[in-house]
Formats: sequence, structure tokens, C-alpha cells
Amino acid sequence: MTSNASRRLERKPGFVFSLILLSPILIGVPLYSYQQHSYLPEPLHELYNAERKPQISETRILEVSRILSEDIGFRTPGTYEHALGEDWLWDQVKNIKDECEKIVEKSPHRHLECEIWRQKGSGSHRFDMMGARLYKSYVDLGNIVVRLSNGTDTGKEHSVLVNAHLDSTLPTPGAADDAICVGIMLETIRVLIESEDWQPKYAVVFLFNNAEESLQDGSHLFSTQHEIAHTVRAVLNLEAAGTRGRELLFQATSKEMIEAYSHVPRPFGTVVANDVFSSGIILSDTDFRQFQQYLGVTGLDMAIVENSYLYHMRKDVVDNIQPGVAQNFAENTLALILHLSSPPPTSPSIATLTGGFTKPATVYFSLFGKFWMYSFSMAKIMYAVLLLDAVVLITATARSHSIVGALATLGQPALAVLLAFIGSLVGANSVALVMRYLLGKPLSWFSNEYLAMVLYGPPAILGALISQYPFNQVTELQAYHATLLVQSFLALVIQLLDVGSAALFFLNAASLWAGLAVTAILGMISVRNERVSLLTYAVSSFIPLYLGSSSAYLTLEVFVPLTGRIGADAPADNLIASIVSVVGMLGFPLFVPFVCRFQSSDNRMLGKLIVVMTLVTAVPIAVFSARSPFDPMHQKRVYVLRTENITTGEHHLHLSTSDSAPGFEQFVYAVAKEFSAPPMTAPSEPADTNSTSDIASATVGEIPIPELIMMDRYNADWDPMFPFSLFLKPYKIPLHVDTTYVSPWSTTLEENRKYGFTITAVDDVIDLEGGTRSLKLVIWHPGMIWTVIAFDAHVLKWNLDDEPPNEYTRHHVKEASYYGSDTWSIELVIKIPPPSSSDPEAGKITVNFIGLEEEGMWPGKRAIIEGKSASTPGLALKLFSTLDAWITKETGDQVDALLLGCVAGVQRI
Ligand SMILES: *[C@@H]1O[C@H](CO)[C@@H](O)[C@H](O)[C@H]1NC(C)=O
Ligand SMILES: [Zn+2]
Repeated sequence: MTSNASRRLERKPGFVFSLILLSPILIGVPLYSYQQHSYLPEPLHELYNAERKPQISETRILEVSRILSEDIGFRTPGTYEHALGEDWLWDQVKNIKDECEKIVEKSPHRHLECEIWRQKGSGSHRFDMMGARLYKSYVDLGNIVVRLSNGTDTGKEHSVLVNAHLDSTLPTPGAADDAICVGIMLETIRVLIESEDWQPKYAVVFLFNNAEESLQDGSHLFSTQHEIAHTVRAVLNLEAAGTRGRELLFQATSKEMIEAYSHVPRPFGTVVANDVFSSGIILSDTDFRQFQQYLGVTGLDMAIVENSYLYHMRKDVVDNIQPGVAQNFAENTLALILHLSSPPPTSPSIATLTGGFTKPATVYFSLFGKFWMYSFSMAKIMYAVLLLDAVVLITATARSHSIVGALATLGQPALAVLLAFIGSLVGANSVALVMRYLLGKPLSWFSNEYLAMVLYGPPAILGALISQYPFNQVTELQAYHATLLVQSFLALVIQLLDVGSAALFFLNAASLWAGLAVTAILGMISVRNERVSLLTYAVSSFIPLYLGSSSAYLTLEVFVPLTGRIGADAPADNLIASIVSVVGMLGFPLFVPFVCRFQSSDNRMLGKLIVVMTLVTAVPIAVFSARSPFDPMHQKRVYVLRTENITTGEHHLHLSTSDSAPGFEQFVYAVAKEFSAPPMTAPSEPADTNSTSDIASATVGEIPIPELIMMDRYNADWDPMFPFSLFLKPYKIPLHVDTTYVSPWSTTLEENRKYGFTITAVDDVIDLEGGTRSLKLVIWHPGMIWTVIAFDAHVLKWNLDDEPPNEYTRHHVKEASYYGSDTWSIELVIKIPPPSSSDPEAGKITVNFIGLEEEGMWPGKRAIIEGKSASTPGLALKLFSTLDAWITKETGDQVDALLLGCVAGVQRI
């Protein structure tokens, strides 16, 4: 080597050249982690493998989902299709029993028994959500249950419950949510009973629950009333809030169940997801809640989460489910069942869970395709050792060779590290504020899960750079030491608070430690110049980049689509900006040392970088400002109610949305212009007699101005969506109705009516002395589903739960029932004013009521408009078919409207 060349090698590479040298890692690791993140197995078509053994067939799972979501349709609890879905599944389950019996007949030594139940029942439960108190009352809802056991009493004494729901919610065919999981359960049952050597030591109970979307009535019914519910020791809940990717384990409630999960072929779950979910920020919950609350059991809650744009949308159809999703989920589920149903020692026995379970104190995560787990106490020891080792390594590689001397120089550098994080948060959030308030372009990144990184990444870096301005005296080695110290310190402190997510800091700190130790041993760091080598970065960055990028993919996949349904006032842009800067900090812990590497006392390099990053920040702001947040596969959610108030005879269109994107007001005005008309009392409007639609088109100048409604719990307009409705900022438009219209709904109680809505008080007893009134409120609602009543009263006692709030306040009770079941009731004892009160109305209660027309939901009931059903379309359906076509055309299919025909009123009782 010539002396020239060796001198060149000694010279440190410049900023850009360093980045180029590190680029294989900077680019390669995120790509590698994306490949790991998005890996799915090849979907299988055949029912048997080459050795003629049964295997999971994705084709068969998707066929179940297709039948439920397409042939049968929108299975909203209470609808005709909901009942059809249950009948269809009951046939499948009866076939399973027949098959099972044939198999056992052929091999009489096989210890296998298949039992089935069709459960029907009524009940009620309190269901608080989003900070609001709420009650559910349900009538004649159903569950279908299959139990596989070895046929003995001891074999049935302990069981593992596998749950999925058969119903879908209001606007969706629910191919992924949750028909795919119904298919997974059916296919798993087939594979289990056809596997000749499978004989369960413990029973497996499959619950096909047919009322999850009505706020978990089905799982409540099973947990509180089914004869075998008490045998359940553990739960596997199978859900979907998306249509792509591996199913995520987002709740694991005991050490035993985490251990069981470690045996699945393709684990995907971390204690971090568990911590995030249990913080409640995602605002969602599953049947798991009922099993926890009423059965007191532990379990695993798993769900398909990627591409959550289609969650509860009409495009949740089989064609949009990614190939491999079902194969992956089913094979993981099968592995779990095989484990949990077999005797120890191959797995921990679920029988040990009889006496309850302990909250998990386990750190777990999947890294490089492997599942890692260790206890909190182990974690504390490991993290403490690492902190100690960090101090030792810092001392050994510092200029001052005393611990005190080494640590004393780290005050400034540690502050630099801390400020870099704050700077990146401030930078990204400033752009979020600019986008939302200055430019009026919130949600500009919505249509792609990862796009927000392009918008918020540069300002996060810029903010971090600016924060480094005061620290031009900090050396690279000091900054490295400070980062290592801060990360290992945070790991220990957070773990001491029993938060398992501390593992992220531990893994980062361990990599920093390893990188420094290796290059120090190789003699590649310069203690005298206080510099480390580029190789130090190369070694140390691998794990942080992997963790940072995989956390970015997952959190953005969960939170970006979520911003389309968290309400117009939620700070969506700031939420996503903060996520980008946090995952950035996770992925690039060596940002500060790297900047210090090129720092000089005159801040020349830093100044240049700041100028460059400012330009890099500006470009995406400009580009994103011109973007529409929505497109046909990433739609805006719009909620539309067409409500007939049978007390006043008025008809209104109510519109709202649940995101902060601009333009909704204009949209509402356009709808008003196209579909509203002067109120029916307007004298100037002649009755439009020859119109087939009952909505007369408005003439310009007479368009009623949509009224912006301030929501609170006293406004009954949106009670079908209470308490989610409290997050809405809806508009209300009066509708004109033909004078010849005779309402089928406003009838008094008579026999054999198909439609109606009446509330009566029976067993009504007033005790003036005691100051109480006891009564049974009977709600009669033929043709209506999902009825809600709201009233103000001081309830002393009722049959909904044991502890009504001891005050005069508003109560909301929602109902869900089986198709055709048209009355429900609640029993109340309320406080009334003393007898001296001169008010003759004293003791009366005012009940607001509202419900959905079973035949008034679009697009679920499209068949009625298309004449494929015996029913004749009502006002709501007629309006919706044209309104929906208009919306699709006007917005270029960027809007998915949930259209519900409602009937409401108020009664004094
Ligand atoms: C129906 O009209 C009555 C009387 O004006 C009103 O109190 C009630 O809130 C209305 N209900 C709905 C849901 O619009
Ligand atoms: Zn679901």
C-alpha cells in the first residue's frame, strides 16, 4: 500500500461518504425487517397433504367467508340475514357431528366425542365504553357451540374456548370481520377430527357467537348462561380489524398462555403491543372482555390488523383478503389448540388454571422470526447487569479512567441526547400543526399506511438537528457513551415499573454496548480523539434499525387507518407525527453521536445540515398539501341517518363523519341541495304527486341550510351510535315528504301489525308515601332493530344491574334481538317527588326512543330495491339507493356511506 493510500484511509470519511458506506445497513435492515414483517405462508388448496394427512386449506376457509359475506350478506344482529347465517352454520355443525360419529364408528378405539349446542337466550349487561355508562338488553340471541373431547367426564372437566363471531356490523358484509375466523374454526375442527392420532386430554369448545357487533351480547350469553361455560380455563379469541398480514397477538393475559403461544409456527406479538392495547388508546375491544369479566379466565386475543381501512366497511369482502392470511392464522390457531388440549409435559396443563391465573410478568417479543420470552424478574437482573456493564465499558473507553471522572463528563452529552428526542417531537409536530391549521390539509397521508414517514421524518430530523446547536463541545465518544447510558438506564427504570416494553431500550442498549465493545477490542476507537469508528455504527445499528422499522410498520398500520374513525376533533396529525418521531428515535439511537462526529466548534457542518433538512422538509409539505387523503380503497367514513320522528311527523337527514379531513361541510351542503326540500309546512311548495321518489327536488333559493348539531348525551338523534356519537359533529337537514304519506310506524299497539313503535308502562305502581314508582317499561318495536331508549330519572333499582347511579341522571339502554323478536322490557323502581308536589306530571318519565328499520339499511338491503325480495322498499331505502349512487359519483368513490333508516320519537310515561 502506498503511503498516500494509507493516509487517505486514516482520514475519516466525510458526512455524505459515511452515509454511503453505512447505506447497506441503513437501507438493507428496514427492507429485511419489512420482508419479515409481511411474510405469509403459501395458501394451500388441498384438504390433504401428500401423505394423505388432513391439512388446513385456505380455499375452504375463504369459501366459508364467501358464503357468509356474499351469499348471505350483511349479518347485522336482528336482521333476516343474521338469522340465515345462524341457520347455515347450524347445518354445518350438524354435518360435523355426523362426520365425527362416522369417524369414531370406523375406529372405535379413538377417544373422540363431538357435541353441539344451539344456545338461545336473553339477558342484559352493563357495557361502559369511551367513558360513557351504557346498558345492553338482548332477547333470544343465539350461539352455536361445538365441543370436541375424549368423551370422558374428566376430559370435559377443563376446556379451552375458541371464539369467533358470526355476525357482522351495520355497514359491512364482514368477510374478514369475522367470517374468516368462522371459517378458520370450521377448518380447524375438520383437521382435528380427521387427524387419526388426535385425542384431546382436555376438551376444546368452539363458540360461534352470533352477536359480537351488538356490543358482545353473544359472548355475554355464553359466559353467563351456557351449561359448559364453567369448564372453560382459557380462551383463544379470533378477530379481524383488517384484511392483510399476519394476525397480531395483542393481548396475552397470563404467563401460561404466552408460553403456549411460543409454540405457534409463526408468532407475531410483543409485550409492547400488549402494553399499548391495555392503555386503551385504540378505543376498541373484543369478546375477550366478556370472557375475562364473566368467566374470569385468561387467554390470547389475536386479530388480523393490517389494512384496517376496510374494517367495518362495505369493501370488507373476500376479494380484498390477502392470500395467506387465513392459512397463517389457521395454522397458528391449530398449533395452539393442539398444545392446549394435550397432556403435560408437552405443554403446561390448562387444568392448572382452575384456581385463576396471575397477571403475566413476562417479557416477550418476536425478533428475527423467533419468539423470545423471559420473566420480569429475569429482565430486572439482565437490565441491571447491562447498566453495570455499560458503566464499566464507558469507564474503560473514556479518557478519564475513573468511574466518577468518566460519568462526570456525560452531563452535557446526556442533555444533548434528551433534547434531540424532544427536538424531533417538536419538529414533526410543528409540521402536523402547519398541515392541519395553517394549510388546512389534515390527514394528507391517510391513503397509505407508511406515507406519513415521508412527511414527518424530515422535520423530526430537522428538529433534532436544531436541538444540537448548543452542544458543539460534545465529542462523538461522549455522545456515544451518553446514549448507551441513557438507553440502559431507561431499560432498567421502566422495567422496575413493571412495564415490559422496557425491552425495546434493553435491546437497543445491548446493541450499542456490543458495537462499542467489539470495536474497542479491535482497537478501532480513538480514546485520545474521543471518536468511534464507522464500524461501531455498523455493528450497533442493526438491531435498533430492525426494531425501529418493524415498530414503524406495525404502529402505522394500526394507527393511520384508525385516524379515519377517531372523530373530527382528535389530533390525528399530531398522533401520527409523534409516532413517526418515536419510532425514529427507536431506530436511530446513534443520531446524536453521528452528528457530533461531524460537529465543529463553529457549528459549520450543523448549519449546513439544517439548511439542507429545511429544504427536504418543505418539499413533502408542498406535495402532501396537494393530495386527497382518500381514494376508493381508503375511503372516508360518512354516517347517514334518515330519521322519521313519529312524535312530530318530521323527517330529517342526519350526516356526520369521524375524521378531521376538510370538505365535509361542502359535502353536506351539496347533499342538501340535491336531496332536501323546504320543510313540509312550507306553504309555497305544492305536493309533488307524480313523483316516484317521495323527495321533491328543491328549487334554488329554497334549500334549507344544514344545521350543525352540538352533540351531548341529551341529544337523541344519534343514539343508535351512542356513545361513539359523542365524538361526532353532525349536520341535520329537513326532508320534504309527500302530503299523501301515511306513516306505517306511528301506530298504537294492536295485534298483528308489521310495523310500529310503542312504549308502555305495565305493573305501574306509585307509592306516594315511600316516594317511589315501580314499573315495567315495555318497548314494542316490530320491524325495528337495535332500538335505544334514553331517559332521565333517579333510578333506585332495576333489573339491568345492582348499582344504578344514586342520582337523577340520563340513562341509555340499547337492545339487540333475534330476527322477528319485537318486544323487550326493563323493570324499574324510580324516585318520585313527595306527595305535596303540586305537579300532576310528577313521577312521569320522558323516554326518547329510536331504532333502525330492519328493511331500511343500505347497502345491506339492496335486494329489496332490486325487487329480489317480497318486501316493498320504504322511504329510507328509496332515498338511499339514489343518494348512495350520487355520493359514489360525486366523490369518485372516495366515500363509504353507512346509510340507516331510523324511526324515533318521544313518549311521556
Ligand atoms: C322527536 O321529536 C321530539 C319532539 O320534538 C323530540 O323531543 C325528540 O328529540 C325527537 N327525536 C329525535 C330522535 O329526533
Ligand atoms: Zn369483529
